[in-house]
Amino acid sequence: MENEIKRLEEEFQKDFQEIKSSKDLEALRIKYLGRKSAFMQLFSRIPTLAKEEKGIWGKKLNTFKNKITSLLESKAGQGENNEEKIDLTAPSVSREEGSRHVLSTVSKEICSIFERLGFITIEGKEIEEEWYNFEALNIPSEHPSREDFDTFYLDIGEKDKGKYLLRSHTSPSQIRVMKESKPPLAVISPGRVYRPDEVDATHSFMFHQIEGFAVAKDMNFAHLKGVLLHFVREFFSTGVELRFRPHFFPFTEPSVEVDISCFICKNKKVEDSKKKCSVCKGKGWLEILGCGMIHPKVLKACGIDFKKYKGFAFGMGVERIAMLKYGINDIRLFYENDVRFLKQFSL
Ligand code: PHE
Repeated sequence: MENEIKRLEEEFQKDFQEIKSSKDLEALRIKYLGRKSAFMQLFSRIPTLAKEEKGIWGKKLNTFKNKITSLLESKAGQGENNEEKIDLTAPSVSREEGSRHVLSTVSKEICSIFERLGFITIEGKEIEEEWYNFEALNIPSEHPSREDFDTFYLDIGEKDKGKYLLRSHTSPSQIRVMKESKPPLAVISPGRVYRPDEVDATHSFMFHQIEGFAVAKDMNFAHLKGVLLHFVREFFSTGVELRFRPHFFPFTEPSVEVDISCFICKNKKVEDSKKKCSVCKGKGWLEILGCGMIHPKVLKACGIDFKKYKGFAFGMGVERIAMLKYGINDIRLFYENDVRFLKQFSL
């Protein structure tokens, strides 16, 4: 054994002189200390030795190992220096600068238009209680959107089964504010919402909405129209007009869907397929949001005297508005994190 260790040491010294790179260094480490190395083979012989010899050879082998290790380590530092000399003439590595996501920019821009009208911006909750997402908004238990496959319920034990969910719209923010504060109120509430929709060019299981509402003693539909007209003219273009189509939402009465006249083709309504506007597809109108007067039952659920107070509410999809404004034709582009796409909107 004595001779074998000696031979190994000599061999190592020779190899050691020839090291040129950190790769060689690693190869040497594996050759001399790796699992299949001659050294390990010697080590594995220890248990077979006589009792008094075990200690002696164990010590000798350890000394050998420590010597090799420290020599390899000493070379490791040098190796780096030799190989990675700093080249002061090399071009510098430019750092990528981050910027706000287009959806954040659009959302902030929308909120700030309403803030200038006196609305305050609040954040609701993404994990919502069923009562806030449905019941308080006059959505009865037999409503299809309350089915398991239409809503993301959170599985947090038998006791709270069906109680917590990922909100399917930002309207529960209305309830949270109205329950906690007294009118007059004018609030805007942006955030993520979740629906188990199949992902395609216009659908995603997660998207963003902006809720807006106002409650005061003499609030009426004309206030809603005025606020929305101001918003679309600030956001899209000064010339746009609004169109209100009757609709149904359980939490507003009356309810409407709102279109704006196409700000690209200026509402030309071209029938000829070759000359059709690519944004409104020749229809001249673009749907932008849903709204209405807050249903008395909703005010009541929040403890507000519905005989004394009236309110309006609206909800819009941020992705939809951003797609219209910038002519984006696939919602998935927002979420894929492709910098080439996102860069176009960074300021
Ligand atoms: N919550 C509705 C939706 O998600 C939008 C809406 C909000 C409609 C407020 C009317 C009033 O479709």
